[in-house]
Amino acid sequence: MIHILNGPNLNRLGGREPGVYGTLTLADIERMCRDHGQTLGHEITFRQSNSEGELVGWVHDANDSHGVVFNAGAYTHTSIALHDAVRAIAAPVIEVHLSNIHAREAFRHHSMLAAAAQGVICGFGANSYLLAMTALVGLQSG
Ligand code: DQA
Repeated sequence: MIHILNGPNLNRLGGREPGVYGTLTLADIERMCRDHGQTLGHEITFRQSNSEGELVGWVHDANDSHGVVFNAGAYTHTSIALHDAVRAIAAPVIEVHLSNIHAREAFRHHSMLAAAAQGVICGFGANSYLLAMTALVGLQSG
């Protein structure tokens, strides 16, 4: 099982700053991830929350899974609790972003999660999620 977790405001994709995030909705991205999961031979769970504490619990839920694809939204830049949660589980976590956070405002250049994550993929739109899923499956066999 691959857990795909989405943080705050990502439920607004489609209408939210389309010039930055594109026009796909989170439901569109979920469909793409489900299709890609079938190709890879892995089931997925796909969840979104605006609440930091709920995301902490969902990271814990993924302890025994193949891994986590995690777009923590703005909590990426602020959350020691999510950093600690990523460190607290056995499964690998890949941080993803739709946008290239390094080409944006300075406050997005630092990630609290990156040092705890297996790796980071950003700037490829919805494809960031699919690349991360492929990378996770590669880790299992590599
Ligand atoms: C984001 C980038 C974050 O800086 C921002 O707060 C988001 C979305 C992305 O996917 O590009 O909410 O994680």
